[in-house]
Amino acid sequence: MERLQSLNEQFGIKGQLEFAEGPGGLAVAEIRNAGGRATVALQGAHVMTFEPHGDEPVLWLSDYAKFAPGKSIRGGVPVCWPWFGAHASDPALPAHGYARTVDWQPVASEALADGRTRLVFELIETPATKAMCPHPLRLRNTITVGTTLTVALETTNLSQTPFRLTQALHTYFAVADVRRISIEGLEDCDYLDKVEGFARKHQQGPVTIAHEVDRIYLGSGDLLEIRDPGMERIIRITSSGSRSAVVWNPWIEKAEKMGDFGPDGHLGMVCVETANAADDSIELAPGAVHTLSAEYGIEYL
Ligand code: BG6
Repeated sequence: MERLQSLNEQFGIKGQLEFAEGPGGLAVAEIRNAGGRATVALQGAHVMTFEPHGDEPVLWLSDYAKFAPGKSIRGGVPVCWPWFGAHASDPALPAHGYARTVDWQPVASEALADGRTRLVFELIETPATKAMCPHPLRLRNTITVGTTLTVALETTNLSQTPFRLTQALHTYFAVADVRRISIEGLEDCDYLDKVEGFARKHQQGPVTIAHEVDRIYLGSGDLLEIRDPGMERIIRITSSGSRSAVVWNPWIEKAEKMGDFGPDGHLGMVCVETANAADDSIELAPGAVHTLSAEYGIEYL
């Protein structure tokens, strides 16, 4: 592919970053260094896999994921933007926006002095994206790979009028058995329960999962932890630019309907999403920049 060759010439880093053809023919960036490794699809600037050196994958990627142009990949770190969930006024527009299903362009890469590797993407606007969101915006996704993975989504309002943004890093984490994990850091938050028509509820104690869970937690802090006794580890999520978090597991029936989870797929994953959703939507003034970022790391128990 000519595009891959030119990307490798412009942004490749010998021994650390290479562009190649990935599953389903999608172009991917393969990143590896002494700290860890990751693969990122150019469609969606979508981190598909990440593992610290010598460790098990941190991210869940469905064995039944579909890799095809215009299809969101089931797993990794999908980017929901410029709206989260259903569009506020037009139900015909795609859920979670379009950033995850369109092509992005690498714009910079760097081997950092601390050994990590950084790759910056910019969403490519087309007549189709402008038809869904005519407001002039610039979206960058900066992905930094080492012993941890950092994803930073930067939105700039390029126009003279304000823009209201909702978004999420819809991250799928790999767990041994979702029925045995607990998510800490959301104690005492209110949440909107999407399974019960967005009823507002209050979280007491850590979050555990024993049925379909689809919740937007409000007023969340900047550190969440997934305790996974089966994998004998804690996944630590450190975020900034976010005051809401989504916890999602489709459970059996919904996973079956989705068609890209596979049998019992829901048991090996949980989504803990760093978001700007519901009450936490962002009003971007003309020229303003907002960065939503999350760092994922593990600690062994
Ligand atoms: C979650 C939503 O963030 O994403 C759920 O809260 C939704 O309601 C889930 O089902 C998956 O969405 P999608 O579009 O990737 O199937």
